Amino acid sequence: MSNDPISAELKQRILDKTWFYRFDLPDGTQTQRYEDGALDPIHDTRLRMLDDALKACWPDGVAGKSALDIACHQGFFSVELAKRGFAQITAVDARADHVEDVKLITQGIGEERIQAQQCDVHALSSDAVGGPFDLVLCFGLLYHLENPIGALRKAREMCSGLCVVETQVVPNMSGNVDWGSYRYVKPLMGTFGIIDETYETHGMEASVTGICLAPSTAGLMWIMEKVGFRDVQLLECPEDGYEQLRFGKRVMVSGRV
Ligand SMILES: C[S@@+](CC[C@H](N)C(=O)[O-])C[C@H]1O[C@@H](n2cnc3c(N)ncnc32)[C@H](O)[C@@H]1O
Repeated sequence: MSNDPISAELKQRILDKTWFYRFDLPDGTQTQRYEDGALDPIHDTRLRMLDDALKACWPDGVAGKSALDIACHQGFFSVELAKRGFAQITAVDARADHVEDVKLITQGIGEERIQAQQCDVHALSSDAVGGPFDLVLCFGLLYHLENPIGALRKAREMCSGLCVVETQVVPNMSGNVDWGSYRYVKPLMGTFGIIDETYETHGMEASVTGICLAPSTAGLMWIMEKVGFRDVQLLECPEDGYEQLRFGKRVMVSGRV
């Protein structure tokens, strides 16, 4: 990250946009944001929770490590990872507009360690994006997907250290289900809620296909173990954190490889 002044033209292009996130330019100017920054608390809380997970995994710091930011949007978490010392960050999103925005903002702040690339989560592979990566982030994505388990398998495939998943969740259901007969009963391991985003696929934060399966917390944690993560943990939200995370309506879960 550089403190060198940026050209007036580049600065104006950045300031003319309304961003999903707060970015600080080298001269201290901040990007303008949706709803005048009303969404800042959710990003700030997630960042604090991510910091706790990074510290728990790498108490000596993250210098030299690599990261993959899946569904990076405009690259806020990628930029924050660079600030914390990650040596190389690959930021991918299904939407080309977001990739362009990552390139614009990283140019604006003089950050050269972030490589942005258009890629659907289901198309991730070492051939497509390199890796595996010490850290894989999967924030704000699962509940926009019709194949969230496939996405978690991709996250596992791309990860060699720590994976942190953040997602909206639905209420869990537990109990036993007759599996063909009352004599053969299976316990429910979790729940998926079906959510309709079919009329919102134009939205920059939404699903690209419209049919969404949002997991319950218990289901998510069970699936993460089944796709190969160990030490799967629900991360604690600070008491003054964003309400959805505080009350378990969104969760952050980490898993190690
Ligand atoms: C709610 S935003 C979350 C952005 C960011 N990760 C965060 O947590 O702030 C959802 C993001 O997922 C991206 N996305 C949706 N479907 C995707 C897919 N199949 N593969 C990759 N990215 C996808 C969207 O373009 C959008 O940037």
